[in-house]
Amino acid sequence: MRILAVASECFPLVKTGGLADVVGALSPALEELGHEVQILLPGYPQVLEQLAQAGVIDDYAELYGGPARILRGRGANGALDVFAIDAPHLFARAGHPYVTADGSEWWDNGFRFAALAVVARELALGRVADYRPDVVHAHDWQAGLTPAYLVFDGRPRPASVMTIHNLAFQGQMPPEWLPSLGLPAWSFTPDGVEYYGGIGFLKAGVYYADQITTVSPTYAREIQGALWGMGMEGLLASRAGDLAGIVNGLDTSTWNPAADPFVEPGYDVRSLTVRARHKAALRERLGLVGDATRPLLCVITRLTWQKGMDVLMDAAGAMLEAGVELVVLGAGDPGMEARLAETAAAHPGRMACTFGYDERQSHQLLAGADAVLVPSRFEPCGLVQLQGLRYGCVPVAARTGGLLDTVIDIDEHPDDATGFLFQAGDAGALADVAARVVGVFGDLARWQGLQRRGMAQDLGWKRAAMRYVEVYERALGARG
Ligand code: ADP
Ligand code: GLC
Repeated sequence: MRILAVASECFPLVKTGGLADVVGALSPALEELGHEVQILLPGYPQVLEQLAQAGVIDDYAELYGGPARILRGRGANGALDVFAIDAPHLFARAGHPYVTADGSEWWDNGFRFAALAVVARELALGRVADYRPDVVHAHDWQAGLTPAYLVFDGRPRPASVMTIHNLAFQGQMPPEWLPSLGLPAWSFTPDGVEYYGGIGFLKAGVYYADQITTVSPTYAREIQGALWGMGMEGLLASRAGDLAGIVNGLDTSTWNPAADPFVEPGYDVRSLTVRARHKAALRERLGLVGDATRPLLCVITRLTWQKGMDVLMDAAGAMLEAGVELVVLGAGDPGMEARLAETAAAHPGRMACTFGYDERQSHQLLAGADAVLVPSRFEPCGLVQLQGLRYGCVPVAARTGGLLDTVIDIDEHPDDATGFLFQAGDAGALADVAARVVGVFGDLARWQGLQRRGMAQDLGWKRAAMRYVEVYERALGARG
């Protein structure tokens, strides 16, 4: 099959979160199964810089307010086949892809990402060069208009698949943009792009795609209910037969403790004692001076409500009291940063925070900390706990979404356990789980059992890629 992936980020070209990891790793995994994948991305400065030997394959005199060129090149040392939209008026903005320096959304995100979907449609319908995909795979709201444009543009068309990585971001736009977004007036109904009085980009994708996926079976169930459906539960439940939950894989070459450029010396399951050196180096760098035999828990996260950092702050005192040490690496909300820094300052030598998006540190934390704490309120899949499994950094995760599908709790299944689960969104549960961690950590054989089983898990992308192929086949069969 020839697959066109449409996304707003892709590791290593541009990344704000797990979406980029997925887009960057799923494509090579599909290629290993014998399929051909091209990835369409906005031409942010960092994307254009990294595209080797890009050639122009199409141009537009006018694409939402200015001219645009479509480039085709290879990224990630040749591993990814990329189409990029070089449209300076939309994408030549340094920094974060979606938000301004003061943290608000770019006012024209609707047009920026409608442009992504328009170019996706042109490529999908074979109007550019000699390219024509069988399946178009749209990721998250930024690509959400793609399935809609394909339906509106008539036939023949490729099949479409919409993947929801996070229902909290829906791309809701003002209704008066309907004509300028090139959407037909008749599509502005609940059986169309209309969503709570506006235009819903993700809603449109979910409504018009031939098949829908999200990134874990538990999240696929959760989003059909009022608690985590975020307003879309009715539509999602009505399409339950076309909705699959596929747990993300991990790019096991980027995340490999035996050959990680940020982790020197490397280690594997037979040389777990090497981790003690990484832990000692970490503690020294972070200024942690308490009892060195305590378990060190790390948190690696975007700083948002989803990730439960406020719950962590409420629980921090009791967790430290229970006998753990804490380190947080977080990027995002400045107010949350300030409050986390205050919390750490209240517990000098036992809790440390570093702020920013820092890949090197994230790898080093996974190699040196004893456990990785994931206190999310909801979590569609979560990759940090998978990274923890791979690094022998035991996941301690909230019982929600993909965390529940990927971590096995030690009290529930002692013989198969890979970590700890606790009630999401509950500071008391965090304090309790800290005490459980301290208890198990004191028993080296049990602790190493968790590490070994975690490291032995098959976390690669092959299994997930095979599931996506099944979904693509169903989409081809279902195409109207
Ligand atoms: P989400 O996509 O919701 O942020 P995931 O767990 O799926 O959550 O993916 C997050 C990805 O971003 C992981 O690869 C994680 O290691 C990385 N990450 C998150 N925060 C940071 C940070 N502050 N510094 C470096 N890497 C981070
Ligand atoms: C989203 C979700 C996260 C998931 C990632 C990749 O960012 O918040 O849980 O792992 O997408 O699918």
